[in-house]
Amino acid sequence: MAFRIFEDHQRLSEAVALEIASQIKRKPQSVLCLAAGETPRLAYAHLADIAAREKFDFSRCTFIGLDEWLGIPPENEGSCFYFLRNNLFEPLNIAPDQINVFNGMTRNPEEECQRINAVIRVKGGIDLMVVGVGMNGHIGFNEPGVREDQHAHVIELDETTRTVGQKYFKESTLLQKGITLGFLDLLESRRVLMVASGLKKANIIRLALQGAISTDVPASIVRRHSNALAMLDRDAASALTQD
Ligand code: F6R
Repeated sequence: MAFRIFEDHQRLSEAVALEIASQIKRKPQSVLCLAAGETPRLAYAHLADIAAREKFDFSRCTFIGLDEWLGIPPENEGSCFYFLRNNLFEPLNIAPDQINVFNGMTRNPEEECQRINAVIRVKGGIDLMVVGVGMNGHIGFNEPGVREDQHAHVIELDETTRTVGQKYFKESTLLQKGITLGFLDLLESRRVLMVASGLKKANIIRLALQGAISTDVPASIVRRHSNALAMLDRDAASALTQD
């Protein structure tokens, strides 16, 4: 799997924004699946700047949600939707009918998975996925030990995810289950950017890129994709060894 290392978070974010922008230039009707979280926040701000400067037209794109906390409503500031709305959809003027995200309040999570699977199918598959890496190596909410042969599914959240996930919420929140695209979605998508930033990700990035390919470290599965690129800042890459 190819990787690129950038001087710092700022440079990394600019490069991620340019990758997304060039995808839209190449194919205005792209199907995009972009992660929430701290890692891509600045990249999305750069993307909004590029879009404003170059008068980008996102009106033919489709956005697919990567994941959501089950039981957390969209108006909660810790939800993935809240993040994407504030950092991506509103700044880019994305219309509601272009947005297909998991409803964390669904009464029927299985049906919700089928709904998102159907959107992806009808739209002809995902062109570009931008994913972050969790402290436990998760991708989306594909937690350690997850099955690789799944599309959208519901999953019991790992202890690390429940704890680390508190950073997105104003008050302590019970996080038990997630709803997420699966590794089949990732492996079937046309291109994947796996982005990581900061010293705290250095160890898991070493395991993901240089350890065994196994769902024990879900991010290592991205190496099976033939068109995936790891984009790291120098801190996140600092534990990689020469070979
Ligand atoms: C968010 C998501 C998660 C995050 C990961 C890293 O939609 O899918 O897998 O990408 O937990 O989170 P940050 O970027 O906050 O370190």
